[in-house]
Amino acid sequence: MADDRLVSKDADSQDDAIERSLRPHRLNDYIGQTAVKSQLAVYIQAALKREEAMDHVLLYGPPGLGKTTLALVIANELGVHIRTTSGPAIEKPGDLVALLNELQPGDVLFIDEVHRLPKIVEEMLYSAMEDFYIDIVVGEGPTAHPVHFPLPPFTLIGATTRAGMLSAPLRDRFGITEHMAYYNEAELQQIVLRSAGIFNMTVPESAALEVARRSRGTPRIANRLLRRIRDFADVADTELTVRLVDHALDQLQVDDRGLDAIDRKLLMMMIRDYDGGPVGLNTIAANIGEETATIEEMYEPYLLQIGYLKRTPRGRMVTRAGYQHLNVPFTEQ
Ligand SMILES: Nc1ncnc2c1ncn2[C@@H]1O[C@H](COP(=O)(O)OP(=O)(O)O)[C@@H](O)[C@H]1O
Ligand SMILES: [Mg+2]
Repeated sequence: MADDRLVSKDADSQDDAIERSLRPHRLNDYIGQTAVKSQLAVYIQAALKREEAMDHVLLYGPPGLGKTTLALVIANELGVHIRTTSGPAIEKPGDLVALLNELQPGDVLFIDEVHRLPKIVEEMLYSAMEDFYIDIVVGEGPTAHPVHFPLPPFTLIGATTRAGMLSAPLRDRFGITEHMAYYNEAELQQIVLRSAGIFNMTVPESAALEVARRSRGTPRIANRLLRRIRDFADVADTELTVRLVDHALDQLQVDDRGLDAIDRKLLMMMIRDYDGGPVGLNTIAANIGEETATIEEMYEPYLLQIGYLKRTPRGRMVTRAGYQHLNVPFTEQ
């Protein structure tokens, strides 16, 4: 994927380090997601009061909305350790056993991209989640024998961008399911101001709001844009004003609704080559040189959310608002 993509999922390690430094540690510092937070606060309190492991939690929503951060916050509030891994990283049952073996009572096991667990691992997880044991086969051939392996009570937190890709048996074993929604401008403004504080930057509220407006509802993007804008301010040796934000984001090809070059390329291709649609996902992917999963998880959800795209049984279509945004006259389809 092109490097110019601001929401790149494969952030390099320096990005990772900066991202970690910006993570809130307590529920109270976690901005937005009010409904999710107030529910979780109850479940955390209840688990603490009963001195039990909290029920398993599934967090789903687009990338960059704070799923990993929230998992860390939950473990922190529960006062337990957290082991972090991801679906594709657990390749075989032995890997899962090794992870589960290290857990202490009440600990959190965080599995990112939980929809990408290998089937055989996923099936082992069922009894682990439900009754805290696993049955494994030890040895090979004639000496192979089953071993019943009890586990300490633990909390599995799964994160996914694709709740629909989870198998029903796995989904049903999460007692708590929370949907992460895009953030509103006021929330993103707070996140920008908070991050600016951590970076020791002076950012007027008006400039923070402008960054917020152009962050695609996504904290990760807000933080990335803030860092790029800081570069512009440092180089020009000027105050960080709305005008500077505007200038920097224009240079980055992030437009006034937060769409970037690829978002616009996608919409424009649909308009020019397909009269605005309907266009199938595979066709869109082939035409703009991205993977279908990337389009489904990263680009499309926001374009649907702001009403520039719509889904129909025959494919995706650009809406009147989408045409207007690109300054193309809308023709009734
Ligand atoms: N509610 C929030 N309040 C403050 N910062 C947040 C919040 N949600 C996410 N962030 C910031 O956005 C970045 C991306 O969050 P992350 O948890 O990695 O998203 P996800 O796991 O959903 O892709 C992190 O650096 C984090 O600091
Ligand atoms: Mg994450």
